[in-house]
Amino acid sequence: MAANPKRVEHQVTDKGVVPVYATGTVEQPWDDYTETDHRVWATLFERQNALLVGRACDEFLANQARMGMSADRIPKFSELNAALAETTGWEIVGVEGLLPELTFFEHLANRRFPVTWWIRKPEELDYLSEPDLFHDLFGHVPLLMEPVFADYMQAYGRGGVKAHAIGPDALTNLTRLYWYTVEFGLIRQADGLRIYGAGIVSSKGESIHSLESAAPNRIGFDLERVMRTQYRIDTYQKTYFVIDGFEQLMAATAPDFTPIYARLADQPAVPAGEVLPGDRVLQRGSGEGWASGGDV
Ligand code: PHE
Ligand code: FE
Repeated sequence: MAANPKRVEHQVTDKGVVPVYATGTVEQPWDDYTETDHRVWATLFERQNALLVGRACDEFLANQARMGMSADRIPKFSELNAALAETTGWEIVGVEGLLPELTFFEHLANRRFPVTWWIRKPEELDYLSEPDLFHDLFGHVPLLMEPVFADYMQAYGRGGVKAHAIGPDALTNLTRLYWYTVEFGLIRQADGLRIYGAGIVSSKGESIHSLESAAPNRIGFDLERVMRTQYRIDTYQKTYFVIDGFEQLMAATAPDFTPIYARLADQPAVPAGEVLPGDRVLQRGSGEGWASGGDV
């Protein structure tokens, strides 16, 4: 945590008083985790790992194995940071919860990934409306050890700082890109379709649904198409976008987005479940079980 030496205030939480730093980061109060907290971690960790063999992409599984997370106990950020420092130079910083957009982008632009320090309750194993430690650590951190993906995340943060200065419509476009890649992305591997999005790998139901259900669309990644597309925050996604590799993602997002934002400003948003004429459709969803309203 060398980047955040300045302690500015303290925050009272149900785990006690934790220091809050100027960048919105907190020290992981590791000693205060209860037996229940460690048990929730173990349950989720074992359940997802069993499910993700053959479902998560090779890069996710390999990096998770080598970064030293295990079911035994909630990982210490300091230990994961040692592994990250040796590979891609990313750093985990603890946070209380969601950060203001610009603060979040600035962390990513500096290769710092904010991780919520608290973990969900035993009765919340299957669904939680805000990110917790399990989602952030288990879902996001393994791919930060993958060099190309690690660079993508930093480039995204820099792009976020830029979009924030351009305006709210640009931010909406950029947020959709994060949603459909970092959170809910699928990737085509030599031996089949796999998951890389953190929102999927940290969810039992969506790990199965995203790959195996007939309901959702699965469409080849196209930058501007993704940036126009609304998404779901309260149900499984109606559409997943599929990349062929992290290099493709990196190359597609390398150009300056400024003219793209200008172009997209004149175009209507695409509803989450819609299939468009130019789409590379891998699977057209049956739409079974789709809620009618509620795209954001
Ligand atoms: N190339 C983008 C821009 O100019 C930045 C970016 C890179 C955004 C990677 C997202 C992902 O704004
Ligand atoms: Fe997330």
